Amino acid sequence: MTNATGSNRPALDSSSSSARSVRTSALVLAAGQGTRMKSALPKVMHALCGAPLLAYPIRAALDAGCDEVIVVVGYGRDVVAGWVEKTFGAGRVKLAIQEEPRGTGDAARAGLSAVDPASTHLLVFYGDVPLIEARDVAPVLAAAVGSSALLALATCSAGNPFGYGRIVRDADGRVTAIREQKDLQTPEEHALREMNPGIFAMPVDFARDALARLQPNNAQREYYLTDLVAMAADAGNHAVTVEARAEVMDGVNDRRQLAEAEDRMYKAIADRHRVAGVTVRGNARIEPTVTIGADAVIESGCVLRGATSIGAGATLDIGCVLTDVKVAAGANLKPYSVATSSTIGERAQIGPFTHLRPESVIGEDAHVGNFVELKKTSLGKGSKANHLAYLGDGVVGEGVNIGAGTIFCNYDGVQKHVTTLEDGAFIGSDSQLVAPITIGKGAYVGTGTTVTRDVPAGALAISRVRQENKDGYATKLNAKFKAAKEAAAKAKK
Ligand code: UD1
Ligand code: CA
Repeated sequence: MTNATGSNRPALDSSSSSARSVRTSALVLAAGQGTRMKSALPKVMHALCGAPLLAYPIRAALDAGCDEVIVVVGYGRDVVAGWVEKTFGAGRVKLAIQEEPRGTGDAARAGLSAVDPASTHLLVFYGDVPLIEARDVAPVLAAAVGSSALLALATCSAGNPFGYGRIVRDADGRVTAIREQKDLQTPEEHALREMNPGIFAMPVDFARDALARLQPNNAQREYYLTDLVAMAADAGNHAVTVEARAEVMDGVNDRRQLAEAEDRMYKAIADRHRVAGVTVRGNARIEPTVTIGADAVIESGCVLRGATSIGAGATLDIGCVLTDVKVAAGANLKPYSVATSSTIGERAQIGPFTHLRPESVIGEDAHVGNFVELKKTSLGKGSKANHLAYLGDGVVGEGVNIGAGTIFCNYDGVQKHVTTLEDGAFIGSDSQLVAPITIGKGAYVGTGTTVTRDVPAGALAISRVRQENKDGYATKLNAKFKAAKEAAAKAKK
């Protein structure tokens, strides 16, 4: 099984660090509105590969071994804080509030007030930089912890620098400042290509002192976190830099950038599965939480979400959408099958156009065909429902055959009731089974039957009006209708 979260990344082991009493707090700045998203939803709550943007920097901090992560919330704080609490519980992830969006430096100041007094080092990064991973964070932290530097930061020279803070260096190559896009003045500054992706590490003491001294002397009248760089240089202790992966530059400020970052992440996930022996074609979208066994085939247009797992050798043809679904080895999902919170057994065949709603369990070798909807229904080994059926709240045994057009009438307008089909039962096409109802072992329901009473094992249930044939009657009827039509047309003239 491969899981593309890449969670086995090198994590920072503080016990092996030279300074034994290192304790690290990470601040994730997430208080901004994200005006450029043009959205009622706070920017950091917009989804990327199935999780809010904010999930990724928090995960990176946790994976890097930080002792605590403080998420600074402000705009839409109820939504953001509610999600943080629901997702991370009362563990290492905490919250701090920035009352007004006065800039990233002010947000860091707000976060600092919640930092554990025992912490020695501070990591700071932005909540809108989702492609950040522990492997990007750890070396920056190590650079701060293992030296007497006041400040360590990641920098990156790959890609388009527009919109990012630029790294300013002196003639000796020492970092003297970060200049924001809106504050660039000289042609030399505009030509700067080295950027700030936004990963900072520093001793807590420096952070406390420097953040308190920030001034909003800039084009945006904001307190810039990035001004810490000049403060360290002014103290004669120039920041140390660590070259970052180009991906980490993908800050998300608008929905176009969101789409770009998401495409990159989906591609990286698909490639990880490919390398691990899975065929992933075209634009299949696989969330980081999904696991896939070797030799599975995921065709283009498939979307695999949440806690979905795909067994070895299973095939998902074009356009299957699975959310929290367990697919066993060798199962075959034909095009456009949609399933949620369900289980599909070994070698089962699903689709095309099957809809499995929550709590459906398809046994091994079972077949569910086109336009069949299941809800909270289990289908035993080898059972079949191949065409056009609604099976809700059902318990179906093994080797059962459910004909086209069968409906489990599970709802009386107030309550849901169970339909039980015992092993080997045969349900003729176009039958309605009015629940609660049980069809016994090997029983047979004739085509077009409305079943309202339990059918004993081995019995035949049939409820139809006896058929009559009237010779020549259709011809007579047609002539009569035709004559009536002609008479009506004449009368109009
Ligand atoms: C910031 C950096 C820039 C860097 C870029 C990387 C500053 C001044 N600039 O610019 O150098 O290249 O990120 O993507 O740091 N936030 C708050 N409170 C605030 C303002 C912002 O919590 O008052 C949060 C936002 O929610 C966001 C993050 O800080 O998650 C970054 O803010 P944003 O306004 O997007 O900064 P950029 O202009 O992208
Ligand atoms: Ca940003």
